[in-house]
Amino acid sequence: MRLLLTLAGLVITSMLPRVLVFALLTSISNAITLQPSVTRQDWQDLEVITLDSQGNRAKTVYYSYDQLLTLPTITVKTERDPNTNTPATYTGIYLRNLFEAFGADASFDVIAANRLDKYKQYYDHDYVAKHRPILLLKFDDKAPDDWPQTEDRNMLGPYCVVHESFSPAEAIYGYVEQPRGTYGIISLELTNFGQSLGRFTPKVSGNDPEVVKGQKIAVGSCSTCHNLGTAGGQMAGTPWSVLAATAVSTKDKFRSKVIDPHSMIQRRRRPTCRLTPHSTTRPSTLSKLTSKR
Ligand code: HEC
Repeated sequence: MRLLLTLAGLVITSMLPRVLVFALLTSISNAITLQPSVTRQDWQDLEVITLDSQGNRAKTVYYSYDQLLTLPTITVKTERDPNTNTPATYTGIYLRNLFEAFGADASFDVIAANRLDKYKQYYDHDYVAKHRPILLLKFDDKAPDDWPQTEDRNMLGPYCVVHESFSPAEAIYGYVEQPRGTYGIISLELTNFGQSLGRFTPKVSGNDPEVVKGQKIAVGSCSTCHNLGTAGGQMAGTPWSVLAATAVSTKDKFRSKVIDPHSMIQRRRRPTCRLTPHSTTRPSTLSKLTSKR
């Protein structure tokens, strides 16, 4: 009996350090790095694209919906889901935890969400820290197959980024920071600030506070649809460089386009205008957007 107890004591004491180390490790970080697949297995797999230092696609992998569910999830209630305009319960993963889950090193500080219509929403370090966006996995406890449509009859899934709540961190002239929620996400992109939103910072007079304000407006409301090289969405055919040039050369046309895009409808190449009217944009804001960079 005594021998048995001594043996048991030995086993326990020899295991103790390992148990402690394990407990310590898990308390320092409960992050998990998932093992991706190189091919799509299911329509619900999440495509994750890693960009290289030039902003070009370097690697594409896929994570299954069930794999994502093994990450630490949170469940929160919102009084009004902006997509469906109804109260909702969200279960999902904080975007800030995705970098580690996707095995991204510290050089990656931005995640972009891509939609089929080439709309692209960026989640940079500051935004993620301030507004804690969530990659939605369950809506009212339901999997994406059973998600409701958006108010405009778009598909909420296969992936969606939501917020528990949103308070604008800043207001610049007439522009108030908008939540960067995105529905119908077909892929996520791992990138860095310099290759994404940082590109929208003018090279010349980059420190001029007025130019910085203009840049924030551009980042917050235009970069989702107007691209600058490999950065930004490509939903609009007109790249940022062309907009910037017309903003300076034909200020009036630029102003009317931004304030009331529908007024220019016959000049447009596309049947419907997807540039949302910025009717509340104040003249002072516009002069920031049209001032020479
Ligand atoms: C939801 C997507 C979307 C957003 C956001 C958006 N645009 Fe557009 N924009 C479009 C589309 C679509 C067009 C149509 C022409 C095209 O394909 O470029 C357009 C056209 C324009 C044009 C006219 C281009 C031309 O000469 O025909 C201007 C000017 C413009 N946008 C400025 C802006 C500015 C400034 C912002 C930010 C305050 C902005 N847009 C945000 C989608 C968008």
